[in-house]
Amino acid sequence: MIEIKEVSFRYEGTSASAIRDITIEFEGKKIYGVIGPNGSGKSTLLRLLNGLIPHFYRGEMKGRVLVDGIDTREASVAQLARKVGLVFQNPEHMFFSDTVYEEVSFGPKSLGINSDETRELVRQALEEVGLWEMRNRSPWSLSGGEMKRLSIACILAMKTGFLAVDEPTIGQDSLSKESLIQIFRGIREEGRGVIIVTHDLEWLEELNPDILLVLKRGSIINRGRPNDVFSDIRGLATNGLIPPYKYIIKSLIGD
Ligand SMILES: Nc1ncnc2c1ncn2[C@@H]1O[C@H](COP(=O)(O)OP(=O)(O)OP(=O)(O)O)[C@@H](O)[C@H]1O
Ligand SMILES: [Mg+2]
Repeated sequence: MIEIKEVSFRYEGTSASAIRDITIEFEGKKIYGVIGPNGSGKSTLLRLLNGLIPHFYRGEMKGRVLVDGIDTREASVAQLARKVGLVFQNPEHMFFSDTVYEEVSFGPKSLGINSDETRELVRQALEEVGLWEMRNRSPWSLSGGEMKRLSIACILAMKTGFLAVDEPTIGQDSLSKESLIQIFRGIREEGRGVIIVTHDLEWLEELNPDILLVLKRGSIINRGRPNDVFSDIRGLATNGLIPPYKYIIKSLIGD
């Protein structure tokens, strides 16, 4: 379980807090959706989950984040990476291997998993995201959408208890978006937790997360079942969020 307790965070050199007094728990066997306008603190929230904040990003943090009972301030990022896999909004910033295959095998290897098992994890992860055929290519030679799926495969192969994914559908075609839904549901079936940040509300509605959070200026302004959150069309619209089409139609026909 990940427990965020009364957490606020202000990046060094800025005057406004990016996260303001947030309290929330993320459990295994659940999919969470996080939505909110640009700059509302979604990516910052994810950085808190695996210790990038406060270990890599400088600033002022208040409150505590506990991952399986361990305070992220007291754990190293390497330790936390075994528990929470984070896919960045712009994943290409982190590729460092010569091939797609090596890139994905780095995670399991660094966890000390033996080579037979690593091979199996890498194959499985690359097949899941549809990149097995491209395993000998350079990560840098992939298209934008493929790069995003590669970064997802890197995290899948580590079999962490939690997966936090920033904007998974960016650059993805319809088939890939559909397969991402199956991947995330499969992870939930395995008892692991999934936290998805996205602007793609149509896709999110199809994914149907167990809980949906709405962020605004660093605070959680709404949380609940997607059906309830999406039905609050006025509330979403005042935050610049357009609810899924289905909900707009529903409100128009008064049902
Ligand atoms: N490294 C940083 N240094 C300073 N300020 C930052 C940094 N990263 C984010 N911020 C600021 O913190 C606030 C929250 O940013 P964050 O990236 O979490 O928003 P977001 O909800 O992910 O937005 P988007 O939808 O554009 O991805 C913004 O005001 C942003 O400018
Ligand atoms: Mg972001």
